[in-house]
Amino acid sequence: MTVRKNLCMRAYGKINLTLDILGRMENGYHEVEMIMQQVSLYDSVQISEKTDGPAEISSNCPWLPSDGRNLAYKAAEAFARATGYDVPVKIRIGKYIPVASGLAGGSSDAAAVLRGLNILTKAGLSTEELCKIGRDIGSDVPFCITGGTALATGRGDELRPLPPMPDCRILLAKPRLSVSTPAAYAEFDRAKNITHPDTASCIQALEHGDLAALAAGMHNVFEDSSPIPEVEKLKQIMKEHGALCANMSGSGPTVFGIFTDESAVLKARAACRACAPFVFYCRPAARRRGG
Ligand code: C5P
Repeated sequence: MTVRKNLCMRAYGKINLTLDILGRMENGYHEVEMIMQQVSLYDSVQISEKTDGPAEISSNCPWLPSDGRNLAYKAAEAFARATGYDVPVKIRIGKYIPVASGLAGGSSDAAAVLRGLNILTKAGLSTEELCKIGRDIGSDVPFCITGGTALATGRGDELRPLPPMPDCRILLAKPRLSVSTPAAYAEFDRAKNITHPDTASCIQALEHGDLAALAAGMHNVFEDSSPIPEVEKLKQIMKEHGALCANMSGSGPTVFGIFTDESAVLKARAACRACAPFVFYCRPAARRRGG
């Protein structure tokens, strides 16, 4: 009897504690400076060997593409190209991170496929080698491979690990709309009156384990260039319910609020549910052991 191998990976989402855009690079991408934080909300990514054929993707989400438009599929192809380990696999994604929400769900699924195939095939790639494959799939994929708390620069794929975010409660709320990342960058190029985050003071706050100072310095420039009324409303609700701060993640539209008080976050969650279809309460996730 043939024993087929399979394994199940957790693909954690991320939030941007700060997001700054410093300019445009020669390759057309924007030069960013962002403090990224992995959170405990995750998709499950099950990878099973099959006998032959191209990668097969399925999920619990009817509108998720199962072909080359899916970043998990791209990751399986990129891994085979880069390593020569072309193992036929079925990939089953349990999608719990909302799609196109600014939480890097698709990038994290791709990162989980790269890490999973590295284990399954015993290819023995280092974290740096996996990140090198990942950056061609998407700018956020390297961070999703390393996780924890990090400063991302360049196009978002150059990473410096930072001290972990102090433990807290993080409320996520995604309004009923989608944002195109390229369109958000294009709007930024046309925008005036941008307030830039004080990234250095946020890094210092992380070094001192000072959650209040960290929260005080957080900002996302996309909130200035592409203001979204639903985002403003959710931010206001979270602040009224005791959030230390409330900001948009990535190019949006998910809002995250930072709380220290359990009863406050539960009340804020109930209030956000009145106007957002996806509301979830989670915590910061630690950097993965071994990289
Ligand atoms: O790298 P990723 O595929 O996630 O980027 C999606 C799009 O977002 C890019 O094609 C580009 O238009 C824009 N982008 C950018 N600068 C970055 C990251 C993304 O202009 N640093």
